[in-house]
Amino acid sequence: MMKDIVRVKSLLSANIEMLLNQQIKKEATSSSVYLAMASWCNRNGFDYSSEYFFKQAEEERYHQLKLYKYVLDMGGNAVSPEVTNIKNEYNAFREVFEDALEQEVAITQSFKNIAGNCMKEQDFVTFEFLNWFMKEQREEEYKARRALELFEVIGEEGTGRWEIDKHVNKIKYDSETEG
Ligand SMILES: [Fe+2]
Ligand SMILES: [Fe+2]
Repeated sequence: MMKDIVRVKSLLSANIEMLLNQQIKKEATSSSVYLAMASWCNRNGFDYSSEYFFKQAEEERYHQLKLYKYVLDMGGNAVSPEVTNIKNEYNAFREVFEDALEQEVAITQSFKNIAGNCMKEQDFVTFEFLNWFMKEQREEEYKARRALELFEVIGEEGTGRWEIDKHVNKIKYDSETEG
């Protein structure tokens, strides 16, 4: 009974609410994955990369909470997600960054899918809310791609990985100068 009353007051369709809850879980998973990466890098002597992934983990947590709060603000039901099966071991330093980029690309695709659903349902309120994440994904993908490119630019031979590690934490994305 109470559930029906809340439902009527919700500004979200059942479909959009479900997609947003799925995204909340994806952000929580991203956060946990980045934490695992921070641990692996730390254990393998890549201190700067470890720091970088700690920061990424925090950002993903923030994304999760931002979505979570939005669902509640709209009268929806935000569901605290279960996060399981996090990969904690990597075969190589480079593999960490390959996974990171793959994850960010998948997240961008996921947001595009939600935005597409918002368009279809004419949910322009959520569509507008998603703009912040679209811009954020530009930055996230840029950083992940730049990090991986360091392996090509610097090379892994000799002190290469040590050099790459030092540069990872300095990657910056300035959307203002991007035009
Ligand atoms: Fe995110
Ligand atoms: Fe991200």
